[in-house]
Amino acid sequence: MERAVVQITLLGLLLALVTTLPNKDNWDIYSFHINSTVSSRYATTVITSRVANRMDESKEIEFQVRIPKNAFISKFRMFIDGQVYDGVVKGKETAQQQYTEAVSRGQSAGIVSSVGRTLEEFKTSVNVAAHKKVTFELTYEELLKRRLGKYELQIHAQPMQPVKDFKVDVHINEQAGINFIEVKGGLSTKALANAITKTHADKQAWVYFYPTEDQQKTCDSCGEQGMNGDLVITYDVNRDTSLGDIKTSDGYFVHHFAPSSLTRIPKNVVFVIDRSGSMHGRKIQQTRIALLHILNDLAEEDHFGLITFDDSIIHWKRELVQANKKNLDSAKAFARDIRDRGGTDINKAVLEGARMLNAHPREGSASILILLTDGDPTSGVTNIEIIQSNVRGAIADKFPLYCLGFGFDVNFEFLEKMSLQNNGLARRIYEDSDADLQLKGFYEEVATPLLTDVTMIYLGGTNLTQTNFSQYYNGSEIVVAGQITDNNVETFTPQVVAISGRRRLTFSETNATVESTGTVSDNRIQRVWAYLTVKQLLEKELLLSGPEKENVKKEALELSLKYRFVTPLTSMVVTKPQGETTDVLHKPKEGETPGLPAPPVALPGQHGAFAPPGFGGGGGVGGTGLGAGVSMAHDYHDLFLYDAVLPDAGVSYQMPVKITRVVEGTPLNAKVSRVIEATPSRVFVSRIVPGMSVDDYQMPMPEPEDLLMAATIVPETEAPVSHRFLIKPENMSLPLCFDVTGDTRLKLFHHPNKELSVNGELDSVVYGGFKQIVIHFKADLQVEVDANEITVREGQTVTRHTGQDHITAGSLTVIRRGKEIDVTAGDTRIVILIHVKDGTEFLWPVLRQQPSDNNTEGILALKPAVYEEVQQTPSTKLKIKDQETDVTRSNAVDYSIVSHPTLDCWLMPAESALQRRLDDFTVAQL
Ligand SMILES: *[C@@H]1O[C@H](CO)[C@@H](O)[C@H](O)[C@H]1NC(C)=O
Ligand SMILES: *[C@@H]1O[C@H](CO)[C@@H](O)[C@H](O)[C@H]1NC(C)=O
Ligand SMILES: *[C@@H]1O[C@H](CO)[C@@H](O)[C@H](O)[C@H]1NC(C)=O
Ligand SMILES: *[C@@H]1O[C@H](CO)[C@@H](O)[C@H](O)[C@H]1NC(C)=O
Repeated sequence: MERAVVQITLLGLLLALVTTLPNKDNWDIYSFHINSTVSSRYATTVITSRVANRMDESKEIEFQVRIPKNAFISKFRMFIDGQVYDGVVKGKETAQQQYTEAVSRGQSAGIVSSVGRTLEEFKTSVNVAAHKKVTFELTYEELLKRRLGKYELQIHAQPMQPVKDFKVDVHINEQAGINFIEVKGGLSTKALANAITKTHADKQAWVYFYPTEDQQKTCDSCGEQGMNGDLVITYDVNRDTSLGDIKTSDGYFVHHFAPSSLTRIPKNVVFVIDRSGSMHGRKIQQTRIALLHILNDLAEEDHFGLITFDDSIIHWKRELVQANKKNLDSAKAFARDIRDRGGTDINKAVLEGARMLNAHPREGSASILILLTDGDPTSGVTNIEIIQSNVRGAIADKFPLYCLGFGFDVNFEFLEKMSLQNNGLARRIYEDSDADLQLKGFYEEVATPLLTDVTMIYLGGTNLTQTNFSQYYNGSEIVVAGQITDNNVETFTPQVVAISGRRRLTFSETNATVESTGTVSDNRIQRVWAYLTVKQLLEKELLLSGPEKENVKKEALELSLKYRFVTPLTSMVVTKPQGETTDVLHKPKEGETPGLPAPPVALPGQHGAFAPPGFGGGGGVGGTGLGAGVSMAHDYHDLFLYDAVLPDAGVSYQMPVKITRVVEGTPLNAKVSRVIEATPSRVFVSRIVPGMSVDDYQMPMPEPEDLLMAATIVPETEAPVSHRFLIKPENMSLPLCFDVTGDTRLKLFHHPNKELSVNGELDSVVYGGFKQIVIHFKADLQVEVDANEITVREGQTVTRHTGQDHITAGSLTVIRRGKEIDVTAGDTRIVILIHVKDGTEFLWPVLRQQPSDNNTEGILALKPAVYEEVQQTPSTKLKIKDQETDVTRSNAVDYSIVSHPTLDCWLMPAESALQRRLDDFTVAQL
């Protein structure tokens, strides 16, 4: 046996970033990450942009991103030169004062403004000294709404320039199980499809988007400015129980109710269509097209009415009629003939629609009134309050009114208020080539009523969000959140009562679906509650007046401040370094045109206490001789450190430390792996002794304090261990898995055309993954990666990198950040994840961006598994390419994902899974 090689790494709190990018004459976004975590439909997204000023003079650096309108910003910070600058959420009035003061000084600043249909733009800037860096970090939160049977997470990627280290990581966690997941959007095009990886495991799903810098310039919606487009992730969850999902945590609950096994109920729908002069041209054409589609979709048991209006009303028929073929044909002829003219008498038209529905009571059906208009009331009654009061009187809570505001000339607030007063909602229809599809899409959302008069009851619940809903439509979802009285989950009893046609239904399940999300620190459920409560209070505020309005506003403001949401009632004040201006960020209301650019205010900069890892200026290596004795508990082996070279206190650094003496008693075959975590003035020593029990040992550290070291001793086991590999399927079926024993050198990825090859050596001692991975690129470039170090051999030159790093050699880039090493070679992107198992680190490679041509080989280049289950008893047999194989149901850890979930899989011999001999996937030399 060999004498143990013992190595310990010391990690400073601040890490130096060495960049070897070519000098640009401007600033350089060297890293742009979007990280979105969705849990119970609540999405928290963090955008992190790291920018360097490469100039010899200070420079104003901008941060500009787009986020969904529906979201609330909850955090913004900047890290500059070891300082952190936190945005502070303040009441709008307080912030307004700073804003106004700044305006009077003639300064300008960033704001949040509405762009397009679904996005808002967040913009700010800061002055960065020559050759310094800034990190911007923005967090926003939103509750995903279920529409037409799916949730949609929209991620806008527009980093403003091609970025070497660009990535989007999405993790979805739904306890009910994920039914399907799809990635769409403008960025999910052919050119970028190879950069998207998707993994789905029952309750969790991951989507990664890792385009290379070149791809960011050449894709459809990309150019010199880099990418500009959306990634839209859609999914739905399983709905096994009719009462739905209820999650509780920390005395709060959220209930998602969307029963699926119901029959549709007939509907009575009246369309009230504006044909005033302003609808002239494309708008009226698109309305006609949409109406024809909608009429086609009516079911035979539905009844409907159609009126058009300008300053007078034209009925197609005075009363509702059945949606049979004859009536539909006649209605379509009428719709084709709708022409624009005259003024806009909304009052008369809506009242007439309501009259028609009221004159047509049908038990067991759902009535709906839909108004489409593109302008303000200009004829008949034009006083908005009077119209609203008339409409309210006529509808009297008997059915919902949906208002569609076409274009930007509408008084959207008026429509919104009127629909909210009548249990409906208002939607804006954007004047665009797809306006007919928007109209049709809206109609589809309400096309299939399943329940009416839905009452959500929570015994033992308090501070509930809205609990009464006039209708529930197929494909949508009702969400209620609240608090559980005294956090007493036992007595908390949810129940739903609703009408389905002529039946009264009660949903209450003894198969208790109430599940606790466990961890106390997870306040997500509480945030969902706060988010929904604030949204609903803001709507309620719109409906009220006088002191009631003020009270609701006050409540919404208090919650926004408590949970640090940037809502229309609050603003975020972004403090900057001393002498610089402060930005005041306001969230616009729907339809609000971007206001004055908010001017900045000079405020003293904050003097933050620390900078997080991954950011900070450089520093020199200090050479302090140190004798650190780490004495371990009696039944463990001792391990001593002597003559370690440590950096100067306070300097940002990471460096290896060689152990020059190992105390007697350390097993000769022990391996020591590396550092785990850093905390000021604490040393964490983690060890494993034969018998594999793990223990963390803490002790005060001698000078310098802000350092950490950790050592793990791993016993050498007798037989080489085996490692399990997964081949994921294209569809939703189970992945295949197979084992490969340790000390095998595997061909991971070979791309002969690009002269790229990646090989890896499995760890022969510890179960997990690879000990070393070597990348060969072109003739004379070789990069060796292990958990501690990256060694680059370029011709005769050898360089070693141990910390956070950014290495560029020709068209090869290696970026190390924490436990991820990102390797880009031409149009291929491989991420090497560092996992820790029982205190030992190992590597796991993942192909995140396939090259466009198919001429690749190796374990990472395997095609998704395609198989057929041909026999179930007595044992399961799968058929893969005409070959039948016996398999057993087993599981495997998916190390291609940071959180390494365990997936079920079909275990089979490597040869069967690979459809070739394993020898074809091994190499003699790394
Ligand atoms: C993304 O965010 C989640 C939740 O905050 C965090 O656990 C995870 O480590 C982040 N991932 C990355 C790649 O930063
Ligand atoms: C509801 O929508 C789903 C698809 O989203 C469909 O399969 C189902 O049949 C619909 N239910 C009714 C009653 O129309
Ligand atoms: C909700 O509906 C129930 C019965 O349908 C009614 O008793 C209750 O007052 C309603 N609550 C609210 C807040 O409107
Ligand atoms: C309750 O759970 C059992 C077993 O999981 C299942 O058979 C039964 O149908 C469930 N009952 C309801 C009302 O969903």
